[in-house]
Amino acid sequence: MKIFFALCVTTLFLCTVKSHHSWWQSMSLYQIYPRSFMDSDGDGNGDLRGIINKLDYLADLKVDALWLTPIYKSSMVDNGYDASNFTGINYMFGTMQDFESLVKRTHDYSMKVLMDCIPTYSSDQHEWFQKSVAGDEPYTDYYVWKEGKKDDGTMQPPNNWRSVFNGSAWTWNDKRQAFYLHQFTPSQPDLNYRNKDLVEEMKDILRFWMKKGVDGFRIDATPYLVENQNLNYEMMQQWRDVVDEYAKKVDQVSRVLMVEDYANISTIMKYYSSGINFPFNFGLMDINNLSTATDVKNILDSCILKMPNGATANWVVGNHDNPRLVSRIGIHRATAVTALALLLPAVAVTYYGDEIGMPDAPIFSKAPSKFTDPERSPMQWNNSTSAGFSTNIKTWRPVNPNYKTLNLAFAKVSDDSYYNYYKALASLRNMHAVRSGNLQVKVLENDVLAFSRNKKKKNSVYVLINFSEQNKTVNLMEFENTDPELAFYRASPGLGLTSGSLMNANEINIPPTATMVFVDS
Ligand code: GLC
Ligand code: MG
Repeated sequence: MKIFFALCVTTLFLCTVKSHHSWWQSMSLYQIYPRSFMDSDGDGNGDLRGIINKLDYLADLKVDALWLTPIYKSSMVDNGYDASNFTGINYMFGTMQDFESLVKRTHDYSMKVLMDCIPTYSSDQHEWFQKSVAGDEPYTDYYVWKEGKKDDGTMQPPNNWRSVFNGSAWTWNDKRQAFYLHQFTPSQPDLNYRNKDLVEEMKDILRFWMKKGVDGFRIDATPYLVENQNLNYEMMQQWRDVVDEYAKKVDQVSRVLMVEDYANISTIMKYYSSGINFPFNFGLMDINNLSTATDVKNILDSCILKMPNGATANWVVGNHDNPRLVSRIGIHRATAVTALALLLPAVAVTYYGDEIGMPDAPIFSKAPSKFTDPERSPMQWNNSTSAGFSTNIKTWRPVNPNYKTLNLAFAKVSDDSYYNYYKALASLRNMHAVRSGNLQVKVLENDVLAFSRNKKKKNSVYVLINFSEQNKTVNLMEFENTDPELAFYRASPGLGLTSGSLMNANEINIPPTATMVFVDS
């Protein structure tokens, strides 16, 4: 009773991770945008050999798994999300042998390789589409074709659906004399999941990559898979079965399936019961410059409280489709969000470059912003030519001119850098408290978000984030079982606070906007 009472009063919520857990349940997942990560052959485009050359770096960063955005053959209208062959490697990134070495070398480091799976559409250059246009079987119905409506002598699309990017979601094809559906660009015709042969083709593609040693998939744009939400979830379950069956029959590898869906929480949560290990949680991306500690606590509550029992949480703070973390919310909030992502329970997702606090690159082009993607600029490795990304001074996207001072090499030797802060926090992910401990979250002194991760007494991590512009003094004894003396582990960069000192848990001073981490071990 006493424990129950204590839980109700002091614990805003508890989240226990099951003890037998699979590797992906607490992984640190690193998203690589291959074209911008590392160029090994000087053509100005990042490539697979470039990634291989940087595996050391990723292992040192304590990354557990790499997720590569698409490297498939493509005409690059949508930067690889328009694949013209789902089982071939775009020559720009290298060869299939390079991919095989990448998988092998990554596994040698005990890291995993996850691929982007793009089931919703192919490129219009894909052989399937060409054959579908021509009416060749079995491809005729691989895409969603509809006759138009004649209106005043002109052909009108079958309905008023709009593409996510712009204009009608239907494009007329003269040869086929019909409209085809495309939720994104007209170069990305939607595949038709009501066609049994197509469904089988996609499963074979998953098997193809599993045979290459791939450890899981990030499934792209799932809300647009089928224009029927239930069929959508059903496909997810079928892919789960394919993956599990492969493991059972062939290699016993436990594989992870993650989906991208920017929908509301209840739609998202249904993926958990449809065979998906976790849908990406973009909740922390709602934090902005004005967010208060209470706002953030509400975000955490809504993300965690609604999770099905035993499900795995995850925290995405940036990706190739959104402005970069520090550009979105400024450096202080960014360091706060980094602490949340790395130290809340379960999976932490890091977008390449965010670990050194890279901002968006300035935009030089007049093209609409969707296609300039300032968050996809080359990784800033050092202060040599093209930031050490390429030996070529011309790179596919301009390097951010701030690379002279903001780069990994420089950050490594500056104790108080974003990178060293990130690394220090990431290294705590090995602690039992962070890997599988309980979570308690509180708002203290109005605007300090405080959370603890705790396995048992003497195995705890406390994170304090001051969302205000004032100094705050908080009492951590408000958390259950807190040691009266806590070792100060690390603070967000730029505060001049030195690590290692012991502080009284009942009176901890936090400078304005600071994040402070304490460890009791
Ligand atoms: C996914 C990708 C995005 C792409 C879109 C359409 O949302 O993350 O980069 O533009 O699909 O292909
Ligand atoms: Mg290259």
